[in-house]
Amino acid sequence: MSGVSRRELMVGALAAAGGMALVAPSVAVGADEVATLGATAATHGLLFGSCSRGLLEHGRDGSPVLAADRDYRALFTRECRLMVSELELKMPALRPTPTRWDFRAADLLARLAADNGMAYRGHCLLWHESTPGWVASTVDASSAEAFVNEHVGRVCDRMRGRMHSWDVVNEAIDVQEGTADGLRKSLFLKLLGPRYMDIAFRAAHQADPQAMLCLNDYGIEYDHPYHEARRQALLGTVRRLLDARVPIHAIGIQAHLHAGLRPFSAAVLARFLADIRALGLKVIISELDVPDYRLPADAATRDTATARELRQFLDVALAEPAVVAVVCWGLSDRYSWLNSFAETTRRDGLPARGHPWDDQLRPKALHRELLAALQAAPGRS
Ligand code: XIL
Repeated sequence: MSGVSRRELMVGALAAAGGMALVAPSVAVGADEVATLGATAATHGLLFGSCSRGLLEHGRDGSPVLAADRDYRALFTRECRLMVSELELKMPALRPTPTRWDFRAADLLARLAADNGMAYRGHCLLWHESTPGWVASTVDASSAEAFVNEHVGRVCDRMRGRMHSWDVVNEAIDVQEGTADGLRKSLFLKLLGPRYMDIAFRAAHQADPQAMLCLNDYGIEYDHPYHEARRQALLGTVRRLLDARVPIHAIGIQAHLHAGLRPFSAAVLARFLADIRALGLKVIISELDVPDYRLPADAATRDTATARELRQFLDVALAEPAVVAVVCWGLSDRYSWLNSFAETTRRDGLPARGHPWDDQLRPKALHRELLAALQAAPGRS
């Protein structure tokens, strides 16, 4: 079913139900239009989507509203069958102060997703980078378990039935910190030890038994000793969780790729993915983009290199049946987080070109290779 007819059906259903839908303006489909990424992925049994960056803004009174950029929203809803929250479900957004909860942006995204036939993926319940200062200053070893239970349980319960999946713990691995199991010395590791993860996954599963629960991490894509150490730490962590009968269902591989920075081995990546499958878990390619800060200024050179990097990775990833979804961390260079993150900001001041569409919403080589990789993917059920 094409994206447009799918939308028309939903508009009809919502109108019949008397509901006000956040359905994006419809996009004309000409005979020469390229297949959408979402529809192409679906044909192969995969979900395709992107993060919510660029979709919301603050209204006059500070409350979240749909962003004025209807063109980007139209592109997003046309291409994506899944949307993941960039900021809206992180702890600082949900809990600006120790006593206040704010689900307005999270709820608005839920409506946008539902009204446009997109699955909603929650990112992320626990992350060292998004643990507000007030948590560190109010939670101690005696209250940490209750805090994790309350936070995870309350958020997952609040969003129950609306979520495709949750990143329960984000970026738990840090092999450079010297812990025996390669776990990052985050606040909750320090307060509870590795069982902070067990507590979080159990609380999430109890609150929302339908959601796919993921451990999400970066730095596992390349053929490099540092990445190998991270892969082994991740596998070790998953084995420990499974031995403890913790409900974990998938690994999120962020896939912030790096054009030309590290050697890539198809065999090494394929082996790692097969190891995850052997443990009974699925895989989500969860934050795909190609930072280009190491590449020369010339746009064509950058676009060729980033597209090649993405294709080489995806051809291996999509050949693995455990991979069920591909999620970009932004569809267009118009709203690139790569320009606001120190490590991926270009020194020459040029904006990053790490996403499938450019800042004018024109598809680039990255889009072409992403589409071709999805088209070439073996089908899965
Ligand atoms: C990033 C957001 O895109 C930024 O806007 C924010 O300032 C910091 O977080 N890995 C993750 C994501 O798991 O949560 C990060 O998102 C990007 C890296």
